[in-house]
Amino acid sequence: MHPPVDEHALDELLEHAADALRAAGCVAVLTGAGVSAESGLPTFRGADGLWEGHRVEEVATPFAFERDPTLVWRFYNARRASLRSVRPNPGHHALVALEEHVGRGHFALITQNVDGLHRSAGSRHVLELHGSLARIRCTGCGQVEERGDALDDLPRCLECNALLRPDVVWFYEALPEVVWQEAEDAVCRCQCLLVAGTSAIVHPAAGLIATARAGGARVIEVNLATTEASRLADVCLRGPSGELLPRLLKKILPEGRLPV
Ligand code: OAD
Repeated sequence: MHPPVDEHALDELLEHAADALRAAGCVAVLTGAGVSAESGLPTFRGADGLWEGHRVEEVATPFAFERDPTLVWRFYNARRASLRSVRPNPGHHALVALEEHVGRGHFALITQNVDGLHRSAGSRHVLELHGSLARIRCTGCGQVEERGDALDDLPRCLECNALLRPDVVWFYEALPEVVWQEAEDAVCRCQCLLVAGTSAIVHPAAGLIATARAGGARVIEVNLATTEASRLADVCLRGPSGELLPRLLKKILPEGRLPV
């Protein structure tokens, strides 16, 4: 439960956030699991954040995969299966409109999400820091493939017979170098960073907020709750991103209308 919203105060904060976006020639966005919550996907650390009693830190590690690859694949296959029926929500669509408004070359959408919903909504410059559930990687020959279909609990590579793994970043693993570099460049260049639906506790992704701030960017947070990002934010918008992001975008679009 979040506290009752004072509509007038919220509208004023939305106006401040809109000013910061209007004044910025270059905009970056950092998203987390909260932006997909209204599409029906569970967040990692919410009340519903456990999977069969396991915390994500217990199944999303290379050690867990070594110890019990079937368990890890069951976890990821459940997440992959849920993707087949989920659709982007109005928050994702508002970020597409933001990219179109700001213009190519001046916008980057950095996401910790592995669900692919930003791309399916139509966002173009998406930097997936934690990989993608729709891709798999061979632990033997390293081949990477797009595979949205159902897989066995212990899938193997057709080429070399080694175990396949999801092409996602696990705890204790490094982020993809090129993507990370691009994300750092984007937050260093931006004049405004919009942070939506993340608890901002997982590093190095969360560190991008302080980097943006150190470079002089205004920071806007959209979240149901106070987070680690809140103390770095110039404006904190409290509420669901599926409602607040469209409201924010309506304020900065010339006709005040989102594309349908
Ligand atoms: P978390 O589950 O840690 O945080 C989700 C955040 O979204 C919380 O701060 C919620 O308050 C907020 N939230 C929930 N519903 C919302 C809504 N409708 N509108 C706005 N905010 C909402 O998820 P992440 O921050 O994405 O990494 O977690 C970061 C990383 O930790 C993930 O990428 C994953 C995980 O372990 C790996 O697997 C490597």
